[in-house]
Amino acid sequence: MSLLVLNGPNLNLLGVREPDTYGTTTLADIESDLDEQLPEVTFRFEQENSEGALIDHLHAAHEDGVDGVVFNPGGYTHTSVALRDAVAAIDPPVVEVHLSNVHAREDFRRTSRIAPACVGQMSGFGAAGYRLATRFLFDA
Ligand code: DQA
Repeated sequence: MSLLVLNGPNLNLLGVREPDTYGTTTLADIESDLDEQLPEVTFRFEQENSEGALIDHLHAAHEDGVDGVVFNPGGYTHTSVALRDAVAAIDPPVVEVHLSNVHAREDFRRTSRIAPACVGQMSGFGAAGYRLATRFLFDA
């Protein structure tokens, strides 16, 4: 099984970025944890700060027959019709993940343009959300 773990803007700064909100775990820590937790899975890890590059990774996951996608779209979650359309356009199931509980923060974070095109959303479980989402896709 192969899974894409795709992270959007500013998530390259995890560990130093607003640690009270996002914790001190780095993206590299999250990725190596997933490799350890599910050695049966071939992971593709990508992080991009721009919308078009994220769309290209979603298209590539489809073209390459990747079995599922764990996607933290960062701030694009709340704004991007183009990313929602890309998620809706591809075959592999996509789980949206947020480290923070977006429903307990500012009003503008309570709406995800992307979640309706996903199988589900994981929000507020910190780095464990990535584990839970990959486990779900592995068991599905
Ligand atoms: C986030 C939540 C978003 O609202 C925010 O813009 C991020 C991170 C999260 O993982 O909690 O960049 O996706």
